[in-house]
Amino acid sequence: MNNEYSNELLPPPSGLFLIPDLIPVPSHAVYLSLVIPTYNEGKNINKIIRVLSDVLDEVIPENYELIVVDDNSPDRTWQIAQSLMPQYPHLRVMRRRNERGLSTAVLRGWQVANGQILGAIDGDLQHPPEILLKLLVAIDRGADLAVASRHVEQGGVSDWNLLRRSLSRGAQLLGLVLLPGIFGRVSDPMSGYFMVRRNAITGCTMNPLGYKILIEVLSRGKISQIAEVGYVFQERQEGNSKVSWKHYIDYLGHLLRLRLSLGQFGRLIRFGFVGLGGVFVDMAVLYLLHDTSTLSLGLTRSKILAAEVAIINNFIWNDTWTFSDVSSQQSGWNQRFKRLLKFNLVCLMGLILNVLLLNLLFNIIGLHYLLANLIAIVSVTLWNFWINLKLSWRAT
Ligand code: GDD
Ligand code: MN
Repeated sequence: MNNEYSNELLPPPSGLFLIPDLIPVPSHAVYLSLVIPTYNEGKNINKIIRVLSDVLDEVIPENYELIVVDDNSPDRTWQIAQSLMPQYPHLRVMRRRNERGLSTAVLRGWQVANGQILGAIDGDLQHPPEILLKLLVAIDRGADLAVASRHVEQGGVSDWNLLRRSLSRGAQLLGLVLLPGIFGRVSDPMSGYFMVRRNAITGCTMNPLGYKILIEVLSRGKISQIAEVGYVFQERQEGNSKVSWKHYIDYLGHLLRLRLSLGQFGRLIRFGFVGLGGVFVDMAVLYLLHDTSTLSLGLTRSKILAAEVAIINNFIWNDTWTFSDVSSQQSGWNQRFKRLLKFNLVCLMGLILNVLLLNLLFNIIGLHYLLANLIAIVSVTLWNFWINLKLSWRAT
């Protein structure tokens, strides 16, 4: 635990939302880093820091840090938090001026955190601080992720009106439809109150939108054990909720972005785009080699050369874009070369299929050779995608 006191503000990180591995600096090491995103919480910040410190001093004294990430609040929440630092040596404060948003605030806080366990809690006392103790117990028992949930035993919301309840439940239902594999894993995917083991999300580049940081963690983290703890979402005492219609639009955008980037549908789209680019490369090289106005090489020889150039082009795009989440886990030239060989093999098998299909469609069925080539390429692309997924970029 870092005892040298400073009331310097934390410089906000920029760039990708990538959670770094823990940099072992003994004097700064803590068990828990709890991020509190704030916007206009000037009337709450004193109390939340005091109550959180009282609760955590009971169980992990000197072994936690509170990180307030404020987005340049007009009520100068960041300044009030900063003035509390002499009293709370475990308190760190970040003032962001160029970014806004609850989710990204939590991520920026985690990027500068020293804890093995990363947590998030609202700064308006609607998340009961004593639940932290139950979340810590769940993590100690081996959970990668411990979520405070309103929808399990001992959970609930205070007196939310019907509209707010239906909006929250409706949003959750939509998430279940679009991302069943993610939303189906927890009872309250909208929760903003949870703890996650750092090594479950290190190396994952997050890309959130709006308020729902938990679905981002569930989607991109390496989460196997999940625990849930019931809590009752409290009534706000001071200030007001920042939720607006824009957050619902962001939420929809977030779901669609996750839908496209997760699972194989998004990947197939990307693979298709790469294949499309490869078609142009294939066609251009075929034209350059075979056409009477250029080199006039034989059709099959031209086709094989054109296809090989397109294969290498496609491998580079697939390795760095379509399957980047897999290839980044299998880095190194040796691994990359193996993937290129497998990709080449799959594509060569696909090429044989392609040439057979091209000749079948051109010589037997009598289609124009370019149209025949196009149909052959599309059919073989689907074949290639499936086999590559199973062979070349198999997530080990
Ligand atoms: N840094 C930063 N930037 N903090 C923000 C921003 C922002 O743009 N918007 C809101 N916050 C902070 C608020 O100051 C508060 O501490 C916390 O994020 C939650 O914001 P509220 O506006 O109070 O959200 P809510 O109470 O309607 O909903 C909360 O609870 C739900 C149930 O857990 C949010 O956490 C929801 O995401 C969550 O689903
Ligand atoms: Mn709130």
